[in-house]
Amino acid sequence: MLKWWQKAIVYQVYPKSFCDTTGSGTGDIKGITSKLDYLHDLGIGAIWLTPVYPSPMVDNGYDISDYTGIGDMFGTMKDFDELIAEAGKRDIKIVMDLVFNHCSDQHKWFQESRKSSDNSKSDWFIWRDAKPDGSAPTNWRSIFGGSVWTWCEERGQYYFHTFASEQPDLNWENPDVRRALYDAANFWLKKGVGGFRIDAITYIKKPAEFHDGKPDGQDGTINVHLMIANTPGILDFLHEMKREVFDGHDIFTVGEANGVSADELPQWVGKDGVFDMLFEFSHVDLPFNDAEIWCYPRKWKLTELKSTLTATREATKNSWCPVFFENHDQPRSVNHFFPSGYDTKKSAKVLAMILLTIRGTPFIYQGEELGMTNVSWEDINIYDDISTKGQYAFALNEGFSPKEAIKHIQFFSRDNSRTPMQWNAEANAGFTSGKSWLPVNENYIDINAEAEAKDENSVLSWYKKLIEFRLKKSHEVLTAGSYREIFADSEEIFAYERELDGEKIIVVVNFTDKNLKLPDEYFADKRIILTSENNFDSSELQPLEARLYE
Ligand code: GLC
Repeated sequence: MLKWWQKAIVYQVYPKSFCDTTGSGTGDIKGITSKLDYLHDLGIGAIWLTPVYPSPMVDNGYDISDYTGIGDMFGTMKDFDELIAEAGKRDIKIVMDLVFNHCSDQHKWFQESRKSSDNSKSDWFIWRDAKPDGSAPTNWRSIFGGSVWTWCEERGQYYFHTFASEQPDLNWENPDVRRALYDAANFWLKKGVGGFRIDAITYIKKPAEFHDGKPDGQDGTINVHLMIANTPGILDFLHEMKREVFDGHDIFTVGEANGVSADELPQWVGKDGVFDMLFEFSHVDLPFNDAEIWCYPRKWKLTELKSTLTATREATKNSWCPVFFENHDQPRSVNHFFPSGYDTKKSAKVLAMILLTIRGTPFIYQGEELGMTNVSWEDINIYDDISTKGQYAFALNEGFSPKEAIKHIQFFSRDNSRTPMQWNAEANAGFTSGKSWLPVNENYIDINAEAEAKDENSVLSWYKKLIEFRLKKSHEVLTAGSYREIFADSEEIFAYERELDGEKIIVVVNFTDKNLKLPDEYFADKRIILTSENNFDSSELQPLEARLYE
């Protein structure tokens, strides 16, 4: 028997950019509530809300200063309760983001901890003495650039941060810290949330000893990810959290697991694991070598994309996995997975087909269902994202010119997916009546929800068609069915079969901008049910065509 979240389509909302009801220029919770009918129409069963807690917003809410409150810029707890209630009326669950690796340096726990080494919170964060020469304890570079160590004059010690210096890491070795975090999660369960996405979870356990690593940049530093991700012992903490928080609730959990590979998945998910699903990043990380350094991208092949997606499915055969191509940390998928110059509307339809028919729970990121694209700002000052600024500084430091550095930023910046949601062709794409916190993508005149709802060939209409098809009881094969990749060696098509109790569905998509002949001996006797190009010629695929056969 499948659980509700194995059948549901999840939609990720980035509240700051979704819908502004006050004219402040930033989105709010009431804005999300006002769009529930849109999401219900689309066929959404759960909304993953990125953080709406009180936060100084150094990392757009991933720096939390109170785990059980609602940030003023997003509204009030009453607004949140109303969102849960209104969503519930439409059979939509609200899923919260748990950011437990670190909090904000403005959180009262850190404010106390920094004062001295003998106060009630002194051991709640990771404090170390300087090296004898006064320098930082190790040469590790934080994910956003700069050292992972920041000196605290008041206490006379360094504290550790995987991300920005305003995001000190919590000390999970301390049972009081873990208790406080579990209590916060339980607070939201009492409110009736439908699950959790657990942020940056592979970093919570630190190695017993801190020592320098072999530099991977010109400046003698090494990416902290390579030193701490997935440290042995981490699963003990997570099993405890499962017992203390998740167990016994009809919710789903999905961990953000940078650093866990497909072959390690069985320890993390399913019956013996700790989460219901894990975001595993091998497919979105294809443009990188070991660490995510934007100015050193690598070329990848379609067979690599296919084999990462297939490997995840094989590794979770007896459990479950999510499917995603976008989130608030990734560029827009049409730019990420297709060469520039390809038709972005057709490309979006190709990805939608995979997202909604491959095995796993689909996660749609806001605007993905419209085929929203990257922006290409030339000026680094227009960007807001802290990691974009860090990557830009890193590239300059590596000897790239500002012009070269900005090219990589344009491709990978997280702001690509954070531009305001494109609702209509009015000012600011209908996102705000004020001054938008981040510029709206100029293509909103063509790419917007209102126009696409009226156009039966739009990306949005294609999403609706696929979702409706998937959710039909008679098409359970798309959720419960097995997955088997076919024509795995092809660098042009991605194809697979889904099968359940003798019923079979075949999906084939053309990743090229050329017409492709299909092998007759396989396809000739199959019936085309859905095609993104209105093409019913079973021997040939049109450029970037997505097709489903029975
Ligand atoms: C996760 C979030 C990202 C954030 C980081 C630090 O990767 O998805 O947006 O910057 O954690 O919390």
